[in-house]
Amino acid sequence: MLEKIGELGETAVRTIEEATDLETLRELRLRYLGKKGQLTALLRRMGELAPDRRPAAGKRANALRKRLEELLGRKEAALQDAFAGSAREKERIDVTLPGAPFNLGRKHPLTLVLEEITAIFTGLGFQVARGPEIESDYYNFEALNLPPDHPARDMHDSFYFTPQILLRTHTSPVQVRVMEKQAPRLPVRIIAPGKVYRRDDDATHSPMFHQVEGLAVDRGVTFADLKGTLLVFAREMFDQGQRIRLRPSFFPFTEPSAEVDIACIICGGKGCRVCGQSGWLEILGCGMVHPRVLEISGYDPEDVTGFAFGMGVERIAMLKYGIDDLRLLFSNNLRFLRQFR
Ligand code: PHE
Repeated sequence: MLEKIGELGETAVRTIEEATDLETLRELRLRYLGKKGQLTALLRRMGELAPDRRPAAGKRANALRKRLEELLGRKEAALQDAFAGSAREKERIDVTLPGAPFNLGRKHPLTLVLEEITAIFTGLGFQVARGPEIESDYYNFEALNLPPDHPARDMHDSFYFTPQILLRTHTSPVQVRVMEKQAPRLPVRIIAPGKVYRRDDDATHSPMFHQVEGLAVDRGVTFADLKGTLLVFAREMFDQGQRIRLRPSFFPFTEPSAEVDIACIICGGKGCRVCGQSGWLEILGCGMVHPRVLEISGYDPEDVTGFAFGMGVERIAMLKYGIDDLRLLFSNNLRFLRQFR
């Protein structure tokens, strides 16, 4: 018996020492110390020994059990350490490797133009205001002096949620919202960039597009201030030699009203395909704020005057960058979009 224990001890110690992974170690623990393990089996057979030989054999077997348990524990810890070390080794960062290239994003051409328009007008003392894209009939039409039978209210032009709620068709409702909030304090000097919606969809119209509204209200604001402001804008935006032209027009919320053209960017005013031989390109609508709009918004039209304008951002982007199809701006074509920075 003592001999068997000795033999078992020798093989057990050797195999445990030689184990190189945790899985093998688990198997060895079962093989020697498990319920059906070899040492366990020997211990069970103590009863077969003559009583006077039991104590020595029992002592030896228990000592071996203790020794194997210690050895397994130590080996397990050592293997775990080694494993963690090699995992760390694998994770080590080689700073000399070339980096993985990644794509730099770019701003959308409309964002670039919006930012440029905003920079020009904030430079002139305007502040940026915003209004909701889901607008009430009151702000979109009624407060802007649009009578109920005005063609702009036609269901064909607007997206309605209910008869009283629609997607705003222009940024002009922000004029009223700003004045309402600020009245009677002067001056009012804001621009309102944002999305607007109309039921149009073709090569030159998108159901969603962008406008920048402008509004200046103070004592003594004149049409000359309007024209001067727009000339500065056109020159900053396009070219310092840029010329503009004002044509009489009509908007229910301005009086008098005008449409503003810039001399054709392509031909410089001589006449070409882009400007339809006229030499001029339309960029915005404007006028002096209608007294009714001032009044409804909390200002006294006997005391103050104002000018307002609204420009189409897509149109300005197309002219500035020579884009010939509006739909390119909304097609998410990276080969197109990557050209702008
Ligand atoms: N809101 C008008 C449009 O969308 C433009 C405009 C704004 C005209 C302000 C005059 C004054 O066509």
